[in-house]
This record gives sequence, structure tokens and C-alpha cells, in this order.
Amino acid sequence: MENFNYSIPTKIYFGKGQIKNLGNAIKEYGSKVLIVYGGGSIKKIGLYNQITEILNNNNLSYVELSGIDPNPRIESVREGIKICRDNDVEVVLAVGGGSTIDCAKVIAAGVNYQGDAWDIVLNSSKITKALPIITILTLAATGSEMDPYAVISDMSKNEKLGTGHDKMKPKVSILDPEYTYSVPKNQTAAGTADIMSHIFESYFNNTKGAFIQDRTAEGLLRTCIKYGKIAVDCPNDYEARANLMWTSSLAINGLISYGTKGEWSVHPMEHELSAFYDITHGVGLAILTPHWMRYVLSDKTVDKFVEYGVNVWNIDKNLDKYEIANKAIDKTSEFFKELEIPSTLREVGIGEEHLVEMSKKAVNGGLKNAFKHLTSEDVFNIYKLAL
Ligand code: NZQ
Ligand code: ZN
Repeated sequence: MENFNYSIPTKIYFGKGQIKNLGNAIKEYGSKVLIVYGGGSIKKIGLYNQITEILNNNNLSYVELSGIDPNPRIESVREGIKICRDNDVEVVLAVGGGSTIDCAKVIAAGVNYQGDAWDIVLNSSKITKALPIITILTLAATGSEMDPYAVISDMSKNEKLGTGHDKMKPKVSILDPEYTYSVPKNQTAAGTADIMSHIFESYFNNTKGAFIQDRTAEGLLRTCIKYGKIAVDCPNDYEARANLMWTSSLAINGLISYGTKGEWSVHPMEHELSAFYDITHGVGLAILTPHWMRYVLSDKTVDKFVEYGVNVWNIDKNLDKYEIANKAIDKTSEFFKELEIPSTLREVGIGEEHLVEMSKKAVNGGLKNAFKHLTSEDVFNIYKLAL
């Protein structure tokens, strides 16, 4: 296991009715609030009214930024920063899924940055301060509610980039699984695939002796497998929604990556798909993951796939190593199919036209420390397999 400094400072209010803590949570940080939200789902489920009532009852003033797109745009970030500056906003309240939360994070970090906000997406070390961020999560997927990351797109350049800074870790997140009852089937499925991918990205690494991280990761994966399909079929199943929601946070908040070393593989490949074709992040991950797994399977990596197959999918440990590994990969792709996620790039409108360019951009600056080192040629091959 590697050395690490543990810091997961986000205060979580988890469960039914936890919105009751919102007023006091905000007051700890200020009284002028920017509410950031997406295309209107929070109004449909009555959450918007609940929030504004709480703000009014607590004498908290607010301004709003709505219409945050899935795959949030840098233009929304710039608009949010201007609203904050014009209104002396003290707290940023994000209500929604990962896109809304990510946008809110970069707004919060951009208010005190004098240059253009895209600079801090390109280079997070330019972030020195951020307004306090509070989130109310409505979709279990990205883990943005408890992590330091944000992913922002500039569609004019076909760029979708991640940035991350401790100052962007939310101060408080309210996680009420009931808010996710209205998440449509396809987003529930994509969210489950995203959570699983975050776990895979940490789990498939070359660190020796990270036993607790590995077993925890396997437990989180089993939770996604147990509850993903239930949530897709029975959207109002509280137990399923609750388990997925908490797993989304634990998958990426550091719990399973502290003490391990490595670099993510499938996310950089997927971000290029979203940057060029604006597809749903979790769908791109589900399409690529089984092909990536098959591509990196070798004598060097097979033992980890055996652990995955035996501990996550209950495959007979007495079988041949490669048989276990291949069965585990088959099970992974079958699971995504059961969730009715498309399984080829062509199904989501992606052809060969940008593969070379996307492959080069995906490995830009790295993938050298990934589970298996990937060159742009490797990424191109994986995209081809996924077509
Ligand atoms: O915009 P609204 O109307 O809210 O609708 C959203 C949106 O259309 C809808 N939705 C959310 N909650 C709902 C709901 N619909 C009905 N009922 C609800 N309760 O779902 C759609 C997708 O929302 P979005 O926020 O885009 O989804 P997600 O949470 O999957 O976020 C995806 C974004 O996060 C980035 C992705 O790349 C992508 O841009 N990621 C962020 C990460 C992070 N911050 O750590 C890590 C991830 O790997 C990921 O890259
Ligand atoms: Zn993701």
C-alpha cells in the first residue's frame, strides 16, 4: 500500500427529509446564495419550491442560474461567475446531477480568479480560493457530491476536460434517495455504469497489498450489480436508490483510491466521445469498458481479473485463470446489456470519422501509469473494437 493523506471533508446528510438541514447548513457559510440547476427536473419533482421556501423562511437571499446542460459548458460557468460577482454571492448551492454540481464547482472557484474560467479547467493549480459549495444530489452517478473534481466542455473546440482541487470539495451534500425516484431508466442505467467505472478505474491498478481497498471496491461493485437493475425496473424502490446513491459517493471520494497508485484509462477515452458527440457519459463508459478489459487482459493482468471474477461475480475459483477472466468480462458486458445500455458506438451515432483525433487527445499527457500503458494506437484499437 502507498502512503496517503486522508481528507474527505464533505458533511453528508443522508436519507429521507434531510433537506430540513439546508437552512442551517447555508447559514454557516453566508446569506447570499446562487442556486444552480439544470433543465427543470427539480421543478417537476417539487424540490425547487421546497428549496426556495426554506431559503425564504431563513431570510437567505438568492439568485439563480438554470439550464445547465448535461456535459456542462464553459459558457454556463462564465455566466455563473458574472452573476456571483454582480450579486456578491457567498454560497453556491448546486441542485441536480453531476453536470450541475461540476458547473457550480468551477463557478465557485472562478469567482476569485481574474482570468478566463477555462484557464482553471486547463490548470487547476491556478485555483487559490473557492466560494463554499453545497449540493443537493438528484442523480446517483458521478460522485461529484463528495469529490474535488469537475468536468467542463468547450464544444466549440470539441474539448471536455476534468479539473480538480481540494477547495472544490463540497462543504455539505444532502443525499435524499427519494429525489432520484424520477430519474429516467436510461439515466439510472448510465449512472450505475458510471459508478462501476469509477470503481474499476481504482480497482484495476498495479499497487500490491492494497487489500482493504480491493475488498471494499468489490463490495461497492456488488452493490451496483445487486441494485442497478432493481432501480431501473422499480424506480421507487428506496433500498435500491439509497444503496446506489451512497455507492456513487464512496466510489470516487478517495476511500478506495487512497493508498493505491495509478491512472484512469476508460474515462479519458470516454471524455473524447462526449466532447465530439455529446453522448451520455455513463453510456460511453459502458460501451468501452468490456473492450478495454479484453484489450488489457494479459499474463501481467490476469490475476486481477481472476480476483474480480471470483469475488464480484462468484465465478468458480478452480477454473483456468483465463477462463475466469473472460467469463468476468462477459458478465460485465451482459450486465450493461441487462440495463439496456447500448453496446456499440454506432448505436449512439459514432462512426470512424474522428477516431484518430480522439485517440490522440485521449492519451494527451498520459495513460503511462494506467493499469496497462495505453498509447494512442491502443486507444484507437479499443475504439475500433467498440464500433
Ligand atoms: O437537467 P435536468 O432537468 O436536471 O435533467 C437531468 C439531465 O437531463 C436529469 N436528471 C437529473 N436528476 C434527475 C433528472 N431527471 C429526472 N429526475 C431527477 N431526479 O438527468 C440528466 C443527466 O444529468 P447529468 O447531471 O448530466 O448526469 P450525471 O450526474 O451523470 O453527470 C454527468 C456529468 O458529470 C461528469 C460527466 O463527464 C458528465 O459531464 N463527471 C463528473 C465527475 C466528477 N465530478 O467527479 C466524474 C465523472 O466521471 C464524470 O466525468
Ligand atoms: Zn465517470
